[in-house]
Amino acid sequence: MSELHPWIEKIVFSQQDIENKISQELAPWVNETYKDSKHLVLIGLLKGSIPFLAQLIKYINIDHTLDFMIASSYEGNYNSSGSVKIIMDLNQDIKDKDVLIVEDIIDSGITLEKISNLLQTRGPKTLKILTLLDKPNHRKNKNIKPDKTGFIAPDEFLVGFGMDYKEKLRNLPYIGIFRKKFTK
Ligand code: IMP
Ligand code: MG
Repeated sequence: MSELHPWIEKIVFSQQDIENKISQELAPWVNETYKDSKHLVLIGLLKGSIPFLAQLIKYINIDHTLDFMIASSYEGNYNSSGSVKIIMDLNQDIKDKDVLIVEDIIDSGITLEKISNLLQTRGPKTLKILTLLDKPNHRKNKNIKPDKTGFIAPDEFLVGFGMDYKEKLRNLPYIGIFRKKFTK
């Protein structure tokens, strides 16, 4: 086990917790949900979903393609700015396909609301959301609900396993609470 990073207050989900959740619950959910699918597309929201998606697809036994989007609602700090910009769009047509959005964490839900509405206009056969973490108490729009969630997150700013503070700490193999005194 690697030493705790000095910017981490406390580990919330260990590497083992995360790996077990993905291999034993989330990937099996994908395999079951899409067992009859003719064309499944997994859409990773960059950059936070990368470690999650990479770990998840090792256990997915349904043929699928991958695509990516970059949306930004955070200006590199803690708070959602409220407006979402699509910085990079998909590379493929999703019409009549089964589309699964893969996200690291849902907080206010503003990012996913914007992305779901946009993707829905393109006529996918189905559109679902899989998130590793959820902070349901922070939701601005209660209609934004993931179809499957890994963990309910504590009311803290989390980093690691894809989640960043000012673009750093995405590489940590665990998810921890960020030590705020390091922000100055
Ligand atoms: P939302 O639009 O408020 O739901 O924010 C979603 C995005 O904000 C996530 O995909 C993350 O990239 C980022 N985010 C939300 N909460 C956290 C956190 O606790 N740590 C790091 N990033 C977060
Ligand atoms: Mg994200």
